[in-house]
Amino acid sequence: MKTYDVFLEYYDKIVRSINNPLEDEVEFLVEDCIKEYKPETKTILETACGTWEVARELIKKWYKLTGLDISEKMLEKAEKNMNKKDLVLADMTDFNLEKTFDTILCNYNSICHLLKWEQWQAFFDMSNKHLEKDGLLVFDINTLYEFDNITNDFAQFYNFGNDTVCLEMNKKDWIYEWLVKIFKKSSNLENTEIVPVQKDKKWIQGTGTEYTLIEEVVRENSFPINKIKKELKEKWFKILEMIDYHYGEVIAQSERVYFICKKK
Ligand SMILES: C[S@@+](CC[C@H](N)C(=O)[O-])C[C@H]1O[C@@H](n2cnc3c(N)ncnc32)[C@H](O)[C@@H]1O
Repeated sequence: MKTYDVFLEYYDKIVRSINNPLEDEVEFLVEDCIKEYKPETKTILETACGTWEVARELIKKWYKLTGLDISEKMLEKAEKNMNKKDLVLADMTDFNLEKTFDTILCNYNSICHLLKWEQWQAFFDMSNKHLEKDGLLVFDINTLYEFDNITNDFAQFYNFGNDTVCLEMNKKDWIYEWLVKIFKKSSNLENTEIVPVQKDKKWIQGTGTEYTLIEEVVRENSFPINKIKKELKEKWFKILEMIDYHYGEVIAQSERVYFICKKK
């Protein structure tokens, strides 16, 4: 099943909703991470850059950005916002850009898209290889606590004009799976059936509108904080700070945790 192919049309609006404005996130990355711990930063590599939303804001603050993502579609959308030559289609667990950066970012729990622990280890290796000495690595995770909470929660619904997106999370074989259901308006029909019915993956609603159901799956995983800390230290990173994005102090119930690390 596909991942992010159609969902990316709605993705930015869902993740950067009223509760999580992009400006707050960028201010946090710039003021609390980069300026605090690596103020001389000029070059930034954003791994798993997605549609370039964060990078676009960082460029406005005069940083020189390179973006890397595994999804061709994400990068196609990113290209509308920026120069193609600064985008790299690659897997963040295995790439060689033949240069180093002052800061590497991996934002919005993108590291959780790496399902196996060995891939997390490979990402830390790649970061180490592509950072200047004293370079900064900033990434955030959704904790296991948060994924378990979302799994136990009700499905989430978002309306976009005529389209509706439904997100629900399930846990399968220790992997967390977002099942993304997109009900996309395909046409208005003559018939005005009152009750929604499903026929060959098409839904017909009372308004006489036909919807196509598109399903995608986004898989994620996380690991205990202590395991991540130990690995970073073994990979020659010094952990400067760990921050609960919502409440500051990291506790057992933290949902989203940032790791701010320096290459030794
Ligand atoms: C949750 S989105 C975050 C996008 C962006 N960082 C942001 O803050 O909006 C996750 C991104 O990770 C990318 N991704 C997943 N696995 C990857 C991998 N192995 N290497 C590079 N990018 C990957 C996806 O294509 C997607 O664009």
